[in-house]
Amino acid sequence: MINSKTKVLCLVGKPVRHSLSPIIHNIALNDLNLNYVYVAFEIEGNQLENAIRGIKALGIKGANITMPYKIEVLKYLDELSKDVKEIGAVNTILNENSILKGYNTDGVGALRALEKFTELDDKKVILLGAGGSAKAIATAISEKVSEIVVLNRTENKAVELASRLKERGFNARALKLNNKNLRNEIRNVHILINATSVGMNSDVSPVPKYLLKPGLVVFDIVYNPLETKLLRDAREKQCITINGLWMLVYQGAESLKIWTGFYPNVQLMRETALKMVRKR
Ligand code: ATR
Repeated sequence: MINSKTKVLCLVGKPVRHSLSPIIHNIALNDLNLNYVYVAFEIEGNQLENAIRGIKALGIKGANITMPYKIEVLKYLDELSKDVKEIGAVNTILNENSILKGYNTDGVGALRALEKFTELDDKKVILLGAGGSAKAIATAISEKVSEIVVLNRTENKAVELASRLKERGFNARALKLNNKNLRNEIRNVHILINATSVGMNSDVSPVPKYLLKPGLVVFDIVYNPLETKLLRDAREKQCITINGLWMLVYQGAESLKIWTGFYPNVQLMRETALKMVRKR
């Protein structure tokens, strides 16, 4: 029951109305018997600094930061994790005695989701996209996989991401996202990750169906719709498919661990999120 000792966690972003985070966090907190509540705040861009100050002023224990503030929020924080310095984006804030620490759990969330379905060691990966999510995923998987081929609509962003990976000693290449490059690369890869927003709320896919091959692991970070066109095509071509809900719950679970010290019931979070998605 909410009382005077209840600790507050929150989501800050715009829009947040359709976010599943409050649902999955509150069910997990309740299951762990922790006296916390998780609420969502939709704020305008010119209020971000005030909102972050408010976290300190009100003693809010932790926050998730979502679109479009994951980068801008960095300048209002006191400390940044190693991952955040590498990725340049924050999705989790911990308020530790008024010191605000920034973390990024997107990458490890994606890593856990992938590891649930496949081995990563020595696997070759195509990563579509070079934005914040793609950077977080690349950073998290780079130590395990044998090569990451980054394909992005804006080629120079792919080049920049691959260069950063190479500087850290990892095997990476960059190409423009087009059908010719996809056709050449897909032949030799084990895993394809869509970290672009293509397919979100629309029935389009970044990869033509005829290029998908049986056995390929296809992971789409988009979870709206749950089965994107890419995943539907992949299922029909006998690929191993992983939807974005897995990343959502695993990144949430990692955030909750940072705030409370406890790792939640991921299965419960996922089932609850699934019910919500199916109701929509
Ligand atoms: P996020 O934080 O979710 O990663 P982002 O940083 O805005 O969001 O990145 C969005 C990614 O989706 C980018 O890689 C973007 O490609 P560009 O760098 O060329 O913008 C990709 N993307 C968005 N719309 C796309 C489209 N219609 N076709 C191909 N790629 C697209």
